[in-house]
Amino acid sequence: MYVSVIVPAAGSGRRMGRPEGKLALDLGGKPVLLHTLEALQRSPRVDEIVLVVRPEEEAGWRSRLAQLPGQRKVRRVVAGGERRQDSVARGLAVLDPRSSVVVVHDGARPLVSRELLHRTIEAAAEHGAAVAAMPVTDTVKEVSGEWVQRTLDRSRLWAAQTPQAFRTEVLREAYAAAEEGEATDDAALVERLGQRVRVVRGEGENLKLTTRRDLELARMLVGKEVVGMTRVGMGYDAHRLVSGRPLILGGVRVEHPWGLEGHSDADVLVHAAMDALLGAAGEEDIGSHFPPEDPRFRGADSVELLGRVGALLSGKGWRLANLDLTLLAERPRLAPYVPAIKARLGAALGVSGGVIGVKATTTEGMGWVGRGEGMAALAVALLVGGLPGM
Ligand code: CTP
Ligand code: MG
Repeated sequence: MYVSVIVPAAGSGRRMGRPEGKLALDLGGKPVLLHTLEALQRSPRVDEIVLVVRPEEEAGWRSRLAQLPGQRKVRRVVAGGERRQDSVARGLAVLDPRSSVVVVHDGARPLVSRELLHRTIEAAAEHGAAVAAMPVTDTVKEVSGEWVQRTLDRSRLWAAQTPQAFRTEVLREAYAAAEEGEATDDAALVERLGQRVRVVRGEGENLKLTTRRDLELARMLVGKEVVGMTRVGMGYDAHRLVSGRPLILGGVRVEHPWGLEGHSDADVLVHAAMDALLGAAGEEDIGSHFPPEDPRFRGADSVELLGRVGALLSGKGWRLANLDLTLLAERPRLAPYVPAIKARLGAALGVSGGVIGVKATTTEGMGWVGRGEGMAALAVALLVGGLPGM
């Protein structure tokens, strides 16, 4: 028996509200689709996998396959079509000629178990066609507009999942016969031939990721996203303003006749940010990590040091929930530089700029900040995760 698996992954994923498609979203550290492929590839019964993706994503997925440990079975990556059945048909067209059983499994079902896959393959080999399905537990109403038309007999209703498996010639025949109409699964096309389809009991965890909630549930099930700890940290820094120095704030050169004095680039915003991050993680402060008397840090790019702090924390299992910064400065106006600052800090920390807040205030002419003797910065950071036992 030569088993091929077609993975349709060319859908719009529009209900996830993300333009890049739901299968690229992160699930415990890697894209959803790589989980699906890994689960299929691990099975000794599977001989080849044909991946069907959106035409514009072909190159991207091809290169991401390199992240699949021991990748050997994904033989072809092909462009999908308008309807799901068009995508499956494109996969069917490139199967190995030896294929005797073909499994179709949605890219959007990353949590399929090996047992379910094997039971489906065996049932297809024996009966010609098999579909994983779950008995419906909710009562199902047929609805038109906003009105119930009738109540269906729940005891006879099953919700179809994938994997669905077929003798390869059976699925080929079904696709050759199917032209019109939209079939949301493959078994439906096979049923139209009059071929009997065997039901294999599916699994509740074999979720199809359709909405954000499904993704959240899947993240809990893979258990990789540690949500155990939430830690807040604060940071404060101040530097004197002097002439003859460039003003660097949040890693961005700001036009100003004065600059901040210090051993490094004296980036007061970044220094406050680093202390907030280190403090949240229970680490020692920047002074001990990057001693000012150490010549390696003379004139250092503070954003580069921030990147090192970020790497230190992620190595300890921390993920940055958000970082909020306030600059205390009488002049100049920071607002025009804020987008560039967010982008630079986000890149250093490996987060999107949306996670970082950057704002400034004067002190209304009061005190040393008000007199323009220096600038100060306040930061708070929220970390989540952490390794067990910290
Ligand atoms: N699929 C496909 N080609 C299509 C439509 C869907 O390959 N033209 C794939 C999807 O990527 C998914 C599986 O078929 O892995 C099931 O489709 P569905 O759950 O409907 O996913 P999407 O169409 O991506 O998302 P949605 O309909 O929820 O917006
Ligand atoms: Mg769809």
